[in-house]
Amino acid sequence: MTPVVIESAAAMRLYIDERRRAEPECQVGFVPTMGALHRGHARLIEQARKACRTVVVSIFVNPLQFDRPDDLDRYPRTLETDLDLCAGLGVDTVFAPSAAEMYPRPPACVVDVHRLADHLCGRFRPGHFGGMATVVLKLFQIVRPDQAYFGEKDAQQLAIIRRLVADLNVPVEIVPVPTVRDEDGLALSSRNRRLSPEEREQATSLYRALGEARRQILAGARDPGEVRRHATAVIPAHAGIKLEYLAIVDPEELQPVEQVAGPVLVAGALWVGSTRLIDNLLCSPPP
Ligand code: PAJ
Repeated sequence: MTPVVIESAAAMRLYIDERRRAEPECQVGFVPTMGALHRGHARLIEQARKACRTVVVSIFVNPLQFDRPDDLDRYPRTLETDLDLCAGLGVDTVFAPSAAEMYPRPPACVVDVHRLADHLCGRFRPGHFGGMATVVLKLFQIVRPDQAYFGEKDAQQLAIIRRLVADLNVPVEIVPVPTVRDEDGLALSSRNRRLSPEEREQATSLYRALGEARRQILAGARDPGEVRRHATAVIPAHAGIKLEYLAIVDPEELQPVEQVAGPVLVAGALWVGSTRLIDNLLCSPPP
């Protein structure tokens, strides 16, 4: 069935109020997205569908979290096919507000994520995580879900959202969903559709580099510098490819570790042509 499409925050709140009045036990599952939906998003929606009576997907390309205007302009917008995918997955409601609806005036109050954005992507995308956390908090206030689903592919985002709901007492359960990959390991991303066939092949080197880091850690390497050296050696020297970072951090605090003594997050960003791709693996040293 085609989902109900709601464009205003007031109507969205009213819809949820009515759902809850009609069925007080109803669990509301929420999947926030920026659209251009693929099998990664679909996995989140499927999990929400299994666990919750009502499933809301938001589709909103949030200008506040784009640090580069060209990235915002080029971000794929495919609402019609997104709605078809949502219909196929049994989504009840799609919340698709305009930028003017979400930001009727430039916000004066925003979320500050402090040191959680000092490393990994935050280092290279000033303002991104504050803008992301701000829109997610706004969406939580509008939809008021019981559960919200986030992909492990965006590990820094997931860690920040977990801290956001804990630190600000937001009454929602955050459900993590493992990264969905293509057969050759490339993490699915809305940005993958910008890759040429040659770039698509080169893009897998990020996952291979992370895999090498994991192998090193499983083999007992404890020095993050040494793990990085082995991992980055996997990225081919090619004019079109540039590793932005490959970092080994504490999975919750997102600070670089001095030694691999427990579970660590190995995360990286790779430029392939003019497309920026990210990926990560959670790795534990042998006991
Ligand atoms: P977007 O990039 O559209 O991603 C929406 C959700 O899908 C995120 O939780 C993301 O981690 C998850 N996702 C994307 N690719 C995935 C994959 N290959 N496997 C598993 N999950 C995947 O992330 C955002 O939008 C925005 O920052 C948002 C949270 C909506 C705030 O604007």
